[in-house]
This record gives sequence, structure tokens and C-alpha cells, in this order.
Amino acid sequence: MSKERVLTGIRPTGYLHIGNYFGATRNFLRMQDDFDCFVFVADWHSLTTHPDTSELQNGVRRVLAENIACGLDPEKVTLYIQSDVPEIAELYLYLNMLAYKGELEKTTTFKEKVRQHPDNVNAGLLTYPVLQAADIVIHRAGKVPVGKDQEQHLEMARNFAQRFNFRYGNGDIILPEPQAFSYDGGDLVKILSLNGEGKMSKSENEMNTLYLADDDEMIRKKIMKSKTDQGPETENSIKPDYIENLFTLMKLVSTADTVAYFEEKYNQSSAGNCVIRYGDMKKQLAEDMIAFIAPIRQKANEMLQNKEYLATVMKAGRDKARASASETLRVVRRAIGVTYY
Ligand code: TYM
Repeated sequence: MSKERVLTGIRPTGYLHIGNYFGATRNFLRMQDDFDCFVFVADWHSLTTHPDTSELQNGVRRVLAENIACGLDPEKVTLYIQSDVPEIAELYLYLNMLAYKGELEKTTTFKEKVRQHPDNVNAGLLTYPVLQAADIVIHRAGKVPVGKDQEQHLEMARNFAQRFNFRYGNGDIILPEPQAFSYDGGDLVKILSLNGEGKMSKSENEMNTLYLADDDEMIRKKIMKSKTDQGPETENSIKPDYIENLFTLMKLVSTADTVAYFEEKYNQSSAGNCVIRYGDMKKQLAEDMIAFIAPIRQKANEMLQNKEYLATVMKAGRDKARASASETLRVVRRAIGVTYY
């Protein structure tokens, strides 16, 4: 029986951070043996925000190297660059005919970008979710491991696939509807920035983001100044989201005993009797985070010296991805009727 296909993409704008790892990469590490996995670097998507393209080459290699350093095995996973697969652009064109201006304008990420960059509201930005849908359905992927911030894009991808099937499928499912996926009880993950304001992000808020490229001292510095408070008012109280975030990070990198120890201290704490020491918790978290990040950083840096190896991975991924994409496109063209001989 053939394996179910899963896919995810990452933009090459800036260094990978622990949010990317937790939201997407970690799921893939668990899936690579049991699923047919596709992971790609979304370089076209990054052009929507007009980055300095002289940085693109390094950015793409870094994302690739960091993913492999995290444990993605290029022998098992098809790792490729979006712009190496022109079939995606053709499918994007067809799906654009099924995407409406009103719904695109209402997309949360679009509205955010308009707020951040009112001088660069380009058509690529507006149709960003359409390109993302094309990325996914070109490989007929069913599951898409992503963080919480991508939930709406996945919903839109399902809508576009559904509309395509309705208009051109003649009763058949030509493009399967993809689902966002996470192992964490199905809940999509959102790692907050260390100051508790918004999500951790590649290109903003650098001192509050833990990058896989950060050196040990930087990790210590960032975690030690992360947001905490005076402690809980009552025993067993609900954690504010910035404290919950520290526990979430701890669950990722520390032992279960360590997490249980601080959970217990938190639950025993109340106003006038604060037995949880956030300073100690942060020190422990910093050391465990260093133990987690340092080997990934070292491996990624070594791999970045080996451009030939990375080129070999990209080319092998490109060939596999194009074979799969052109097969879908053949079916898509036939369904639409743009086949003349
Ligand atoms: P990007 O590059 O912003 O992020 C890559 C992955 O990391 C997840 N992520 C997070 N998860 C938890 N907490 C955070 N703070 C956090 N920040 C980022 C994202 O949800 C994502 O899974 N539009 C996509 C790239 C893309 C894509 C696709 C993804 C293009 N085509 C097709 C899936 C399928 C993006 O900008 O991800």
C-alpha cells in the first residue's frame, strides 16, 4: 500500500526558530518513516515582502541545512525549492480563477501585512494563500504539519480544492482537500515570543525569538530576560500565556521530571507564598535549550560549508517533486479541458 502524502513549506526569510521547529519540523521528524513526506523552501512566497534578494541564496541553503540538521533525512523526505518546480506556478494560475478578491482581502495574514507595509500591497501578497494552496494540492497532500498561524491558509486551500473539484471534477475528486496537522493532540502549536507579545517570528522581534543559530550565551541572555511576573495569586491557578509558553518550551527540551517539578511548584504557589522561582526555572530552561540547540547549530554550520552536498539534495528533491507535480498537472489540465491534441 502506498504511504499517505504529507507536505510542508518554510519561507527562507531569516533563521529558523524554535517556533518553526515546534510547529512544523518536529511533526515531520516523527512522520518521515511512515508517510511520503515533501518539505520545500517557499522562496516565491518570500518575494511578496520584497526582501533583499542577494540574501536569498544563503537563506535557502540555511533553511535546508537547518532542517537536515534537525534530523530530516533527504533519503526519506523529498526536500526541494519551490522555484525549482514551475508546475506550481501553472496550478496557481488556475486556482486564481477560483479565488475571490473579497475573501483574499479578509485573510488575517494579508491584513497584517497591509498594516505593516502599507507601501507594498502587491497582488502576490493578496494571492499568497492561493500560491500556498497550489504548493499543497500539486502533490495531492492530505496532511500539512503547520503551526497555528497557518490554519486559515489551510482552510482556504480546502475551499479552493473543493471549488476546483466542483467546477471541473465531473463528480470526481481531482484535488484532495488538505488538513492542517499536528501530533499535539491535534491542536496546532503557537509558540509565543519571549516577551509574550505575539508569536515568535523569523524576521521580527529578534531578541525575543530563539533561533536554531543562536550561540549559547545568546540563548541564556534571551531566556533570562523573558517575561515573567510576581507569581500566581492563588494555588492551582491558570497560567498567563507567557508563563504557559515557558512551560511549553520546557516540555520540548527538558526531562518530564524537570517539567513536573516546576509544575508542582507553580501549583503550590499563591500570593505571599510563591514557591516557584522563575529565575531557577529560566536557568534550567536555558541550559536544556542550549543542550538542544547547540548540536543542531553545529551540524547546520558544518553543512553550510558543503554547498555541493546541499546542491545534490536540492537537485534530487527537484526531480522527485517535478515528477509528482507534472502528474497532477496532467490530470488538472485534462479536467479543465486545456488539452488540444
Ligand atoms: P513560515 O516560514 O512562516 O513558518 C514555517 C512553519 O513554522 C510554523 N511557525 C510556528 N509554529 C508555532 N509557533 C510559532 N511561533 C511559529 N512561527 C512559525 C508555521 O506555522 C509553519 O508551519 N506560509 C508558510 C509557508 C508555506 C507553506 C506552504 C506551509 C508556503 N506554502 C504550503 C505549508 C504548506 C509560512 O510562511 O511559514
